[in-house]
Amino acid sequence: MKLSAAITVAAVSGAQAFTAPVNKPLRPASSLSVTQGDLDGAQSMIDGILTEKNCGPVFVRLAWHDSGTHDVSLADKEWPASGGAIGSIRFDPEINHGANAGLAGAIKLLEPVKEAFPGVSYADIFQMASARGIALAGGPEIDMKYGRVDATSPEECSPEGNLPDAEAGPEGKFGGPGGTASTEDESAAWHLRKPTPTEVEFGAEKTKFTDGSATKLADGSETTAYTAGGSPWVEDWLVFNNSYFTTINDASTDEELVKCTSDKCLWEDAGFAPYANKFADQEAFFESYAKAHKALSELGSKFEPVE
Ligand code: HEM
Repeated sequence: MKLSAAITVAAVSGAQAFTAPVNKPLRPASSLSVTQGDLDGAQSMIDGILTEKNCGPVFVRLAWHDSGTHDVSLADKEWPASGGAIGSIRFDPEINHGANAGLAGAIKLLEPVKEAFPGVSYADIFQMASARGIALAGGPEIDMKYGRVDATSPEECSPEGNLPDAEAGPEGKFGGPGGTASTEDESAAWHLRKPTPTEVEFGAEKTKFTDGSATKLADGSETTAYTAGGSPWVEDWLVFNNSYFTTINDASTDEELVKCTSDKCLWEDAGFAPYANKFADQEAFFESYAKAHKALSELGSKFEPVE
């Protein structure tokens, strides 16, 4: 898959995995401090879930939708007013925002980790699940920092509209109504530069790549153990590599693969194109991706020391 395209771009793979909305607040944050032993235990549980369910893509999306709400223009306000990787996505209303369709199921998969290691914050669990999803899919090891403090109530949720649009709305604009007005633009590239949300019921119900048939894993083996459905950006959507950057701008690729306006603009915009072309080299992509992922995972976070 294409867990890649990171930070500047639209992302990755397909298989939209889960759809049940969460209507009640989940358990509040623990006030316990976190130890390295807790983090190690949580990681080992998360690795087990990833290996069994091949749910890396939805964990990456969960983590980035928690952190990507961070509004820099509010960064000087008291924490957690500017949003970010603070675990607020677990609460209604944030989990029910249009952009978060399908993510309640991902949180549910991670609840046993919180139960087993209550000292580890949800914010850390979400970010850890994403970083491990990347690593186990063949991507780079990300230099993660843990000890995030959790938002404790629905009042600390970000407003709807702080994540980017893949396609323009009916008025021909990306962002705007339903999103953060300050990121509104007729151009996908400028909207991406400004950042905000909307990625509901995106793509086809299923494709030949996500219909339950075998798909490739990072070790070269194949699996059918995944939640079928959705549209991928690349054929081997459970493998983390740079294939997004060799697929989107290649007109001869399979027509069932997703190519959003926000994807294609990366090769059309003079500012983005040098990076889109550079990342046709996998080493260059991994190096930049690891740094971008780390930065994204810490947006708006407040850390306490790990004991
Ligand atoms: C910046 C603009 C971005 C746009 C416009 C965008 C758009 C989308 C859309 C429309 C989907 C399909 C959601 C659905 O199935 O309903 C999606 C899925 C996904 N996105 Fe993004 N995205 C962006 C950034 C990112 C970033 C930065 C990451 C990773 C750090 C990311 C990771 C993913 C993953 C892993 C999926 C697949 C989830 C799954 O298969 O369950 N996206 N994105």
